[in-house]
Amino acid sequence: MVSSAMAAVAVAFAVVVAATTSSAQLDPHFYDGLCPAALPTIKRIVEEAVAAEPRMGASLLRLHFHDCFVNGCDGSILLDDTPFFTGEKNAAPNMNSVRGFDVIDRIKDAVNAACRRNVVSCADIVAVAARDSIAALGGPSYHVPLGRRDSRTASQAAANSSIPAPTLNLDGLVSSFAAQGLSVQDLVLLSGAHTLGFSRCTNFRDRLYNETATLDASLAASLGGTCPRTAGAGDDNLAPLDPTPARFDAAYYASLLRARGLLHSDQQLFAGGGLGATDGLVRFYAANPDAFRRDFAESMVRMATLSPLVGSQGEVRVNCRKVNYY
Ligand code: HEM
Ligand SMILES: *[C@@H]1O[C@H](CO)[C@@H](O)[C@H](O)[C@H]1NC(C)=O
Ligand SMILES: *[C@@H]1O[C@H](CO)[C@@H](O)[C@H](O)[C@H]1NC(C)=O
Repeated sequence: MVSSAMAAVAVAFAVVVAATTSSAQLDPHFYDGLCPAALPTIKRIVEEAVAAEPRMGASLLRLHFHDCFVNGCDGSILLDDTPFFTGEKNAAPNMNSVRGFDVIDRIKDAVNAACRRNVVSCADIVAVAARDSIAALGGPSYHVPLGRRDSRTASQAAANSSIPAPTLNLDGLVSSFAAQGLSVQDLVLLSGAHTLGFSRCTNFRDRLYNETATLDASLAASLGGTCPRTAGAGDDNLAPLDPTPARFDAAYYASLLRARGLLHSDQQLFAGGGLGATDGLVRFYAANPDAFRRDFAESMVRMATLSPLVGSQGEVRVNCRKVNYY
């Protein structure tokens, strides 16, 4: 008994050390010598894309999340399907939903031109584009640890199973984040990304018609026009995830307090009446927007450093959609 407990502790310790070692190899100054033009180039193109379409900032943020939760932040989400593997783009959480691939391609081409060589990984581009998107929409900025390498494979099965579904209850959301080494507080903070962007009707229809007890009646009335009850009707119609989908603010949390969370998973974070384990955190961030900005940035760094490939692992892809050779 004692020795197996010791072995379990030793294994857990080894895992922690390994995870710490690879993310510790990332460095915000990684490109300072290799290509000083890299980060300003990414920022410029993100700002242009967000100015042309504010929602693109939300989409680029979500792209980073869906990259990092599937075997780490390794650019795997960017790979097209090949005869050797089925990629992540058509996995259940991504199909007809995840956006921003064209912007990433534009950034990659511009960065390679500015650097005069292929030195900036697609995984780093996604991480920096997410940071610059948040800032472009009025959110906090932060230093992104850099030096990720790109994966040479992708996994549709892992994308199906690792990205949390909007139908999950609080327990399931907590487990999904815990599987990544992220805490309950990270769950509440990173869900605050839903201060930006939109959801398709297909992802909130059940909440709209089957959860009337926990959905504010006036929001329900206004969503009815966007999202008909009939299965399949208007599936792709969009509703904002909070009242100000192009402004990074704490309105997402204020909405949860008023039973106006759009997704089932959103409203799971605030059951009300002190019933839910995360109610206190939601109340706190609704009342303290500056704390939200600061703590959100810290949680983003934790998400951005999930299991990166480093050193000689993986590669720096030339084209973010394809591995360099088979
Ligand atoms: C906690 C579990 C989460 C669930 C269940 C979830 C689920 C969803 C769903 C269903 C949508 C709408 C997609 C569509 O209808 O096409 C969405 C949108 C979005 N999600 Fe999440 N999400 C979660 C956490 C996160 C996290 C951690 C981030 C980033 C840090 C994030 C960022 C976004 C953004 C920015 C959008 C809007 C995208 C756009 O307008 O293009 N989400 N999410
Ligand atoms: C992923 O989910 C989609 C949609 O449910 C399904 O069609 C596909 O077969 C799944 N892929 C894997 C590898 O499990
Ligand atoms: C709501 O719940 C009912 C009964 O559980 C189910 O048949 C239906 O598909 C659910 N969704 C909607 C949008 O009504």
